Amino acid sequence: MRFTTLTVLSALGAFLSAALPTELTEFFLVTSDQSDPSTNSSQLRGVHATTPYAEDPVSQSTLLLRLIGSGYNSLPNFTLADGVLSTLTAGPHGIGSYKYNSTTITAGKELQFVAQKQENGNVGLDGGYLVTVDGEKEGWAICDSDSGTDVLYWKGNGTDCKTTYLHAVSKPPYKKA
Ligand SMILES: *[C@@H]1O[C@H](CO)[C@@H](O)[C@H](O)[C@H]1NC(C)=O
Ligand SMILES: *[C@@H]1O[C@H](CO)[C@@H](O)[C@H](O)[C@H]1NC(C)=O
Ligand SMILES: *[C@@H]1O[C@H](CO)[C@@H](O)[C@H](O)[C@H]1NC(C)=O
Ligand SMILES: *[C@@H]1O[C@H](CO)[C@@H](O)[C@H](O)[C@H]1NC(C)=O
Repeated sequence: MRFTTLTVLSALGAFLSAALPTELTEFFLVTSDQSDPSTNSSQLRGVHATTPYAEDPVSQSTLLLRLIGSGYNSLPNFTLADGVLSTLTAGPHGIGSYKYNSTTITAGKELQFVAQKQENGNVGLDGGYLVTVDGEKEGWAICDSDSGTDVLYWKGNGTDCKTTYLHAVSKPPYKKA
């Protein structure tokens, strides 16, 4: 019986990994105009890679997520546990490495990360790849930050905001092989 169950589970696992883009533990976050997944993140409509960004580079107390074009060297990846997104980032002046955790996401605010422990966040992954807030996949927006950088908001409704979907992907887009 046990053997049979395992066989069924591994067959199911193979089916799921074929059906879903990936079973992601570490992933990259990208924005796209489409909600459907793509096995090749470069082919997501209107795709943009993202990277954590300190609006205040001196204190780096809060990181936002900004869009980044082609030509980056490497991108930090993310993990999701307990509804909290986490990413490893160098500290101020490039010294040390800190695990930044997403704070509870609220309407009209940026997706924010702080170097503090966070519990019971409201982030999820719909279908294993589409980032949700309180189970909602629609509501992400790319808006200008105070310094005019394109950053990710939840339910940002400023006139400069453009709606988007946030995908978790196994490989970052438009990266030269
Ligand atoms: C992914 O798509 C891009 C853009 O269409 C293409 O240049 C690249 O070769 C594709 N990568 C793979 C692994 O198919
Ligand atoms: C994710 O980032 C960690 C820390 O920088 C690194 O060790 C790991 O290889 C990365 N994983 C992927 C899939 O890029
Ligand atoms: C924009 O969103 C904020 C926060 O959700 C809300 O308080 C405000 O009324 C909204 N403004 C418009 C014009 O919809
Ligand atoms: C971020 O959260 C993780 C998991 O709860 C925790 O281990 C880590 O210490 C937190 N980061 C910081 C800088 O406190």
